[in-house]
Amino acid sequence: MAQTPEAPVIPSTHLAASVPSATAALELNEIPTPTPGPNEVLIESHAFAIQPLDAKMHNAAYAGAGGIKSYPATLGTNVAGIVVKVGEAAQEAGKVKVGDRVVADTAAYTLGDWRMGGWQQFVVCGVETVSEIGDAPFDRAVLLGFPLQTAVASMKEYLGMGLPGTGSPTDKVLIWGGGGAVGSCAIQYAKSVGHTVIATASPRDVTHLISIGANAVIDYHSPTIVEDIRSHGPFKFILNAVGNPESHMAIAALIYPPGGSYASVLPAQNLPENVKAIYTSFSMSVQKDEHKEFRDWWYGEYFTKVLAEGKIEPPRSVKREGGLKVLQQASRDVFEGKVKEKVVIDPTES
Ligand SMILES: NC(=O)c1ccc[n+]([C@@H]2O[C@H](COP(=O)([O-])OP(=O)(O)OC[C@H]3O[C@@H](n4cnc5c(N)ncnc54)[C@H](OP(=O)(O)O)[C@@H]3O)[C@@H](O)[C@H]2O)c1
Repeated sequence: MAQTPEAPVIPSTHLAASVPSATAALELNEIPTPTPGPNEVLIESHAFAIQPLDAKMHNAAYAGAGGIKSYPATLGTNVAGIVVKVGEAAQEAGKVKVGDRVVADTAAYTLGDWRMGGWQQFVVCGVETVSEIGDAPFDRAVLLGFPLQTAVASMKEYLGMGLPGTGSPTDKVLIWGGGGAVGSCAIQYAKSVGHTVIATASPRDVTHLISIGANAVIDYHSPTIVEDIRSHGPFKFILNAVGNPESHMAIAALIYPPGGSYASVLPAQNLPENVKAIYTSFSMSVQKDEHKEFRDWWYGEYFTKVLAEGKIEPPRSVKREGGLKVLQQASRDVFEGKVKEKVVIDPTES
């Protein structure tokens, strides 16, 4: 006879890391575990990765992605874990059930709702931004989720790139900064669409980036970088996955004249006339209803498939043992650029 799975035990309180005031060190507190609203789920988190955005918000009160709307603030928007409770309306919709292994993107930054912050043991998330991950390891799911979604949202939703298998190799794509998390995901998505992909990176990343799909990789330290890239063009799509002033200036020199648009993970200043860097919080696009079709495709189809197929490689990572207790130092290290890999933390270890 089939066994009914036992309802998980949800503790009345759980450990959360919060920033008490702008740029202050994290405090760890036991806080009441919330009940999810009708269209929400409660997730026991088993992994999150510290993103540059989180580290900048924590250590420099960075105003991107809407900034920190109130203190104390529990940061982090991307977690992987197990669903332990499902709101009433979400249950009726039947998309997610208790016991599912999922990855989730919360609206913590968009709404300033710290029940949704990822830097805690139990996290509330709207049911529409949760993907089932099958047997995929939690760390793999959480490592891929944020940068891949940023890369795909920027190129598909803002530049007009197509779905996997719909592109042509005669259309070329330039990814500036292929060695980073967003850049390496962008290379792999553009390749899966069917395009020819040219990336810039440091020499140490060349072999790896060719192995994941780049057709050519150009050292961004080259004094002739613009001409080096131009010899591989022209480019139908350009993503600046670094966004520093030098990269904007080089891309502007590449496309002006006559000019054009490219997407960038960080904003640009002082661009020439007719050159436009499209910048927004691409990683938060899924929270906006104007991207509903993209959201439904991402969570209902694409990301689950990507994880099951295992064809897109996540960024390099390092696990920090010790759960939320080691988060303060880890966030600082990410902010100061002391660690090149993505840092993963399992809050159940706290
Ligand atoms: N707008 C959004 O929605 C959004 C979403 C996600 C991330 N971001 C932002 O995007 C940036 C990258 O994020 P990430 O997670 O990919 O970071 P990451 O994994 O740390 O990657 C940064 C990469 O940039 C490379 N790099 C540095 N200077 C470069 C240059 N001048 N030219 C080419 N490459 C250069 C680095 O390679 P080397 O070691 O070789 O220098 C490194 O691999 C961060 O600032 C982040 O805040 C924005």
